[in-house]
Amino acid sequence: MKELDNVKYLNIGEIFDTVFHKKIKQEEILEYFETGKLIGKKIDNEWHADKEAIEDFIKNVYLKEKAYNVGLHKVDLTTITLNGKILDIGGGGQGIIGQFKGENVVAIDPNKNELEESPSKDDLKIVMDARDLKFLDNSFDTTTSFFTLMYIPREDHITIFKEIYRVLKKEGEFAIWDAIIPNKGNDDRSMFFISLEVNIGDNKINTGYGVLWNEELNTKYLSNLAGTIGFELIESKEEENTFNLRFRKKNLP
Ligand SMILES: C[S@@+](CC[C@H](N)C(=O)[O-])C[C@H]1O[C@@H](n2cnc3c(N)ncnc32)[C@H](O)[C@@H]1O
Repeated sequence: MKELDNVKYLNIGEIFDTVFHKKIKQEEILEYFETGKLIGKKIDNEWHADKEAIEDFIKNVYLKEKAYNVGLHKVDLTTITLNGKILDIGGGGQGIIGQFKGENVVAIDPNKNELEESPSKDDLKIVMDARDLKFLDNSFDTTTSFFTLMYIPREDHITIFKEIYRVLKKEGEFAIWDAIIPNKGNDDRSMFFISLEVNIGDNKINTGYGVLWNEELNTKYLSNLAGTIGFELIESKEEENTFNLRFRKKNLP
């Protein structure tokens, strides 16, 4: 990173690592600079761009060219009840559930940076992978997943659901909010992107979530998966491209 007149500039490698998380090629970023789609400046003969130029580029060029962008959706959490001790999986990022329910929340995420950057203050943040939860059986009243499953490969979902089932108390609830991601078919766009305005009562949080568009995600698939593990579906709501599912851990004999 270079700093000129108090403005920080990232080079191609840094944009590749920290903005695109290695999901596009460095040559592509170079081409965006060369064609003027990403407004940059050469510092020490190397292309650099500041935060504002990168954000403009993502919004006005990249998302339009490469992403299936389903636009802004509103999620209202103010009418939602989440009981007792809450485990939030993938609770980094905006840490929405941590911001909403504060000290009742244990937020886990394998990515330490995501937890460190999360604006939530009162939740307990632990670096942990949902595929291998370090909690004892029957520890939590509620588990939440807020726009996390879309970031987790399908092959890991069953392991994670089994782990969630294990750490939930009997009659405990698992609440999922996520995006309905359609089948990609022959669409050549590589990303799926959704913008959210989340109402948590005290304030409204604006954010956006994007993933490589490989797999579809919907309520039917997740309800079937949860059913095979022993969860009972207690609520299923869909609104445009978002859904909210609630499951209960059945009191098995
Ligand atoms: C973008 S966040 C989702 C939004 C977040 N819940 C919020 O409130 O803003 C997705 C998170 O899932 C995390 N994640 C990916 N794989 C995971 C796994 N196996 N277990 C738990 N979290 C995982 C990522 O590190 C990332 O921080």
